[in-house]
Amino acid sequence: MKVTLRKTLAKPSESQTLVLFAHKKEVSLPKLDPGLIKLVRTAATEGAFSGKRKETIFFRQASVAGFRHLLVVGTGESKNISAEEARVAAGVAVKALQAQKIAQATFDFDSLSRGSKNAANQMRAVVEGALLCAYEFKEFKSKPKKNDEPETKLLELAIETRNLNKSLQKGFEEGEILAEETNFARELGDRPANALTPSILAEKIQARAKGSKLKVTVWDKARIKKENFGGLWGVGNGSDHDPRFIIMEYYGAAKSAKPVCLVGKGLTFDSGGISIKPSAAMDEMRYDMSGAGAVTGAMFALAKLKAKVNVMAFIASAENMPSGRAAKPGDIFVHRNGKTSEVLNTDAEGRLVLADALAYASEQKPQAIFDAATLTGAIVVALGNTHTGLFTRDEKLVKRIAQACEASGEAVWPMPLTDDHLEDMRGAFADLSNISSTKGAGSATAAAFLGEFVDREIPYAHFDIAGTAWNVANRLPYIARKGASGVMVRTFVELAKSYF
Ligand code: BES
Ligand code: ZN
Ligand code: ZN
Repeated sequence: MKVTLRKTLAKPSESQTLVLFAHKKEVSLPKLDPGLIKLVRTAATEGAFSGKRKETIFFRQASVAGFRHLLVVGTGESKNISAEEARVAAGVAVKALQAQKIAQATFDFDSLSRGSKNAANQMRAVVEGALLCAYEFKEFKSKPKKNDEPETKLLELAIETRNLNKSLQKGFEEGEILAEETNFARELGDRPANALTPSILAEKIQARAKGSKLKVTVWDKARIKKENFGGLWGVGNGSDHDPRFIIMEYYGAAKSAKPVCLVGKGLTFDSGGISIKPSAAMDEMRYDMSGAGAVTGAMFALAKLKAKVNVMAFIASAENMPSGRAAKPGDIFVHRNGKTSEVLNTDAEGRLVLADALAYASEQKPQAIFDAATLTGAIVVALGNTHTGLFTRDEKLVKRIAQACEASGEAVWPMPLTDDHLEDMRGAFADLSNISSTKGAGSATAAAFLGEFVDREIPYAHFDIAGTAWNVANRLPYIARKGASGVMVRTFVELAKSYF
């Protein structure tokens, strides 16, 4: 999909379709065209359209205001809508346009923004909503042949405003970057495991970083062993596809400024290993690298945005497979910081690979560490696919994260993390066990395990995205399909920027 931003011209644009946004009390839309107002008013009187959130009405061949077709999108009760509501409205609009096989459309941005003080953020959100909605993973689908039905044309979208200024232009550009990188994270998540092994993941990141402001370093299996990453090495050892440790560095501030560290779980496939998973929906375990995807997308976005902050990102990538070399229940790993863990269930592998990455991040003496991981099925039980689980012992960080989420529009929910949870993770034959000795609170005990690999003085938060990284289209209208959501790319960008 192509999106452009332009000033509303006296003469209507070339587009075939006009998209207007209307809130509930407003039926007398912008003073564009009397014919248009009449159309919408009549629809409202007849009860066909009320301006509710997510409601749409499409008028084919309306021939109003110089456009052939007209789409009106409801934005709900309030006159001033939040950035997230703008994102939702844009997503709803794009979906409706796609359903009507529309090839060209113009969003009347002013009908959505109505002179809001928040207009630049709304602009950013509208662009994000539209571009996120247009994402499709079709690399492995054959191109239609000559006599097949033609592929639906790509939607050409123009966003028009009468008051085009620098801040709206900037909002537009930011939206493009954030959507592009979120879609890149989705691509990684959707990619099947045979086409995304740890080494392929590393190569893709390296290739994409060429010519950018990102420095990428990749450690192979031998280096991983040499650096005492016993967890990453041990989990990766069961697979014919070797593990990788991927380091991304971006310096947007003075070299002396302490970095912010992002850490991602990058299991390109999680079969469970010897403690193998049931076969139902095991294919979905391709998205067990979504934490890595979030971190990667955020790093590329920060570089493109030229954020004035230093950020280091670490991805622990492996494939968890059963084999003659695979970790067995009872095996003990020695981690980067010298702590040991006994593997009582080889399916609790995420914490084992993250342990080394977090310890390494701690060594950088950063301002803060954030990780994203599809860590536990338990978080899906607790929060479903509406909220990412947030685990931290740092109250100040909770506030900072809430602000970042307010800006990104992504939903997270604070969960408990205490010494009691850590108690349940003590090992019998090693310092820690990789599963809890008691039932329940599986996400919190996993988080407590991770916390043992970060120096307590460093502000640290863990995000469990097992529930939100996949199949969330039923919640968010700016995701058109099943598959990876690209969650946390936008929040990580906001979080990193908050240290400027
Ligand atoms: N990758 C899974 C967690 C997961 C589950 C992600 C469902 C997405 C959807 C993780 O490695 C795992 O298997 N965790 C186990 C831990 C248990 C053995 C303590 C789990 O949650 O069942
Ligand atoms: Zn697992
Ligand atoms: Zn896993």
